[in-house]
Amino acid sequence: MPNPFTVGQPVPPERFVGRETQIATAFDQICSRSNLAVWGGPGIGKTSFLRLLTYPEVWQRQDQDPKAAVIVLLDCLSIQPFSAYSFWRKILSLIKDKLEGNATLQTEIDQLLGKDRVVSSDLVPILRQLGEDNKFLVLLVDDYDAALRTNNSYKAADIEAFLYECRNLANSEQESKYLSMIVASSRRLNELGPQLTPDQSPWYNHYLFRALQPFTDSEVVKLLVDLPRTPDLQNKIREIADGNPALLQNAGYLLYQELRANRIPEPRTFAREFQSATEHFFQATWELCNELEQTLLMLIALCSLEGRLANQRYSLRGIENIFSQKELEINALENRGIIKREEEAGKTTYSFASSLMGWWVVKKIQNSTETELQQRQRGFLNLMSHRQAENIRTAIRWIWEHKDKVPPILEWLGWL
Ligand SMILES: Nc1ncnc2c1ncn2[C@@H]1O[C@H](COP(=O)(O)OP(=O)(O)O)[C@@H](O)[C@H]1O
Ligand SMILES: [Mg+2]
Repeated sequence: MPNPFTVGQPVPPERFVGRETQIATAFDQICSRSNLAVWGGPGIGKTSFLRLLTYPEVWQRQDQDPKAAVIVLLDCLSIQPFSAYSFWRKILSLIKDKLEGNATLQTEIDQLLGKDRVVSSDLVPILRQLGEDNKFLVLLVDDYDAALRTNNSYKAADIEAFLYECRNLANSEQESKYLSMIVASSRRLNELGPQLTPDQSPWYNHYLFRALQPFTDSEVVKLLVDLPRTPDLQNKIREIADGNPALLQNAGYLLYQELRANRIPEPRTFAREFQSATEHFFQATWELCNELEQTLLMLIALCSLEGRLANQRYSLRGIENIFSQKELEINALENRGIIKREEEAGKTTYSFASSLMGWWVVKKIQNSTETELQQRQRGFLNLMSHRQAENIRTAIRWIWEHKDKVPPILEWLGWL
């Protein structure tokens, strides 16, 4: 039996789990030729979601006619370096590929592609023609982050111009009737793109926003259907992967490989292989956090390490105050599926959704340097008093000096 788990690529439709509400929302938006912005962290399933919307059978299941639509999927990361011109050029040539049998429109696109620079308004006559043919365009744009980041040839002003071009297309009286755009990004667009000034109307107000959330319990069970349903195994997977589809698929893949060969998975090997297969997710999740969020994650990691050290060597007393003062940021980290909140006897504690992410952050702290610590000092002081900041620095230095006291992975996970 080939391994049924999907690693390193978007999941095919027959293995696609959950997201029923978001799929219905996407089709509602497509039907009304409106726009949708989905967002979520690494491995949450953005690319898989967009891909799913390209399959005719998925359209049919939603009682939609896939033939009425020209569906184009573009990954902004495939444009290197990103520029608006390359974006529109790519869109046009993808549309052309989808127009087999419509030589007139293909020729028209060819002429546009012959120009030095393709711009958003070049799409206007194409949309109009599609409308006349009783068709419309569905633009699925992945890794939209790349369009919101500057590069050497794409400056802040270019970003703004590009975003307003998209907004104008979406708001145009005529052509917007033949266009629906669905974009995917790592964070909510307003957090990634240019700040608004009082005299501007928001460049993102034509989107409906939906977060892709970590999987629920029943979705996790569905995803892991090919593994034995022993509570112990399922709990362990849950502990390291929480509801993140990519982490769940990685865990499933490794375990399936062992079970298929009639081997009983050995926790140490499994933990090590899982860690090395997924490290880039933790890294990417960390890098997508801003400085304040990273500091909060460090504090949560320090707390959970403190709780695991046999003889407590540093004390983070009073740290809860910091969490309650930064409620908004904490909520955002929770909504993004990075941390979990637990209420017990009126006391709130925070932990990492994936226990392995917590371990990863501790390792990150352990491997940091005095210079890095100095650089974080200002961030610390924005968040806490001098005394608290000193406390944190003492804790971090303690970790540097007692590297052997930091539990190895299996102990951290409590799998010994
Ligand atoms: N709906 C889903 N059902 C099952 N597996 C999924 C689903 N969405 C994502 N995955 C798994 O998670 C992994 C990462 O998904 P991907 O779509 O690439 O996420 P993103 O683009 O958000 O980083 C994929 O390899 C896939 O196996
Ligand atoms: Mg992706």
